[in-house]
Amino acid sequence: MTVKIKSRSGEHQFDAETGEQLLYAGLRGGLNLPYECATGTCGTCKAQLISGEIEELWADAPGKKHLKQDEGQFLMCQCAAKGDAVAEVSQFVGSLRPLEGAPQWYAGTIQNPRKLTHDVIALEVSLDSPVRFEAGQFMSVEVPGVQGFRGYSMVNFSGEAASLEFVIKKKPGGAFTNWLFTEDCEGARARLFGPLGTATFHPEIAKNLLCIAGGTGIAGIMSILDRACQVRHFERFAGDVFFGIRTPDDAFYLDELASFQARFPDSLRITVAFSDQAANGEFGDRYPGIRFDQGFVHEVAGRDMAGRFENVMAYLAGPPPAVDASIRLLIMSRLGADSIKYDKFS
Ligand SMILES: Cc1cc2nc3c(=O)[nH]c(=O)nc-3n(C[C@H](O)[C@H](O)[C@H](O)COP(=O)(O)OP(=O)(O)OC[C@H]3O[C@@H](n4cnc5c(N)ncnc54)[C@H](O)[C@@H]3O)c2cc1C
Ligand code: FES
Repeated sequence: MTVKIKSRSGEHQFDAETGEQLLYAGLRGGLNLPYECATGTCGTCKAQLISGEIEELWADAPGKKHLKQDEGQFLMCQCAAKGDAVAEVSQFVGSLRPLEGAPQWYAGTIQNPRKLTHDVIALEVSLDSPVRFEAGQFMSVEVPGVQGFRGYSMVNFSGEAASLEFVIKKKPGGAFTNWLFTEDCEGARARLFGPLGTATFHPEIAKNLLCIAGGTGIAGIMSILDRACQVRHFERFAGDVFFGIRTPDDAFYLDELASFQARFPDSLRITVAFSDQAANGEFGDRYPGIRFDQGFVHEVAGRDMAGRFENVMAYLAGPPPAVDASIRLLIMSRLGADSIKYDKFS
C-alpha cells in the first residue's frame, strides 16, 4: 500500500507492508521521519491522519500521552496502515542518502548469552545478512513470544557487521528481559529493524569526546570508543568517559574499558562512579588506568570536568533520569545543544 506524508518540506510517499510500523516503512523507504525511541514511549513520531485507516499495534503505548487522539493523531512507530493513507507531520522531512544506508529489516540468531552481573546479560545476534551502522546506533529487536520491539544499542563497531553485540539489563517485570533471563535464549531467532539513532560518532568530528553513561547506557559508548580508537582519535583529542553504576558488584566491562585506556594513556580518561557504595582498594589495584569515584555519574562528571567543556562533543546514554541530569549539567556548563547527543533508554 502507498502512504503519503505531508511535511513542512512538502509531500513524500513510501510503500508499507501489511502490519508494518509506518515509521519503519517510511525510514526503509528513505525518508528521514521524526523519531527518537522508535518503540512507543517518547511521542516524537507523532503524526496526524488526514485520510485512510490505520491499526494500532500497541494500544497502551506510553507515548500516546503526547497525542491529541480525538484529533486523529497517532504514533507512527506503533501504527500500521490498513490501506492507502495520507498523514501529516509538523517537522521537515528529508531523504536519507545514500538509500543503501537507510534502515532495513534484518533477521538473526541469538548466540553466546552470558551473564556479566546478576542483572546484566551480554549476547550476540548473528545476522542472516550483514549491516552497516554508525558507532552509537541501535536496533529495534523482536523475539517470538514477546509482543513488540525493544531498542538495544550495538556494543561493537565494524564497517559491515555480520554479528551485533548487545548488553542488556534486566528490568523487574519487563517482558523481553524476563524472557532473556529465564529462557534458554541461545539459538532463538530475532527480527531486527535498523540501524537507528543519531547519537553517532563520526571520525571527522574534530572535538574532545565526553561520554556519560548510566548502567547499560555504556553499550553505545563502547561502540563509540571502539571506533574512536580505531581511527586514533585520542592522538589528537582528549576523551573523558564517566560510567555510572550502583555498587562494585554491578560492575562490568572494566577489562574492556581498561584496554581502551591503555591504548591512549595520556589522553583517554575513564572514571567509574558508584552511586550507592564506594569501591574497595582491590579495584584500584586491578585497574590502575581507571579512576573510581563515588556519587551519581552526572555529579562526578560535573566535578571532574569543571572548566574543561571547551571544544567538547558529548554523548549521553542510559536511564532517562541519568540522561536528563547530564543534559542539565551540560547546558549549565554552556555546552550548545548541537554538541550534545543522547539516547534515553525509555
Ligand atoms: C534508543 C534505545 C536504546 C536502548 N538500548 C539499550 C541497551 O543497550 N541496553 C539495555 O539494557 N536497554 C536498552 N534500552 C532499553 C530497552 O529497550 C528496554 O526498555 C528494556 O530492556 C526493558 O525491556 P522489557 O521488555 O524487559 O520491559 P517492558 O517494560 O516489558 O518493555 C519495555 C519497552 O518495550 C516496549 N513494549 C513493551 N510492551 C510492548 C507491547 N505490547 N507492544 C509494543 N512494544 C512494547 C516499549 O518500548 C516499552 O517501553 C534502550 C532503549 C532505547 C529507547
Ligand atoms: S519514536 Fe515513536 S514513540 Fe518514540
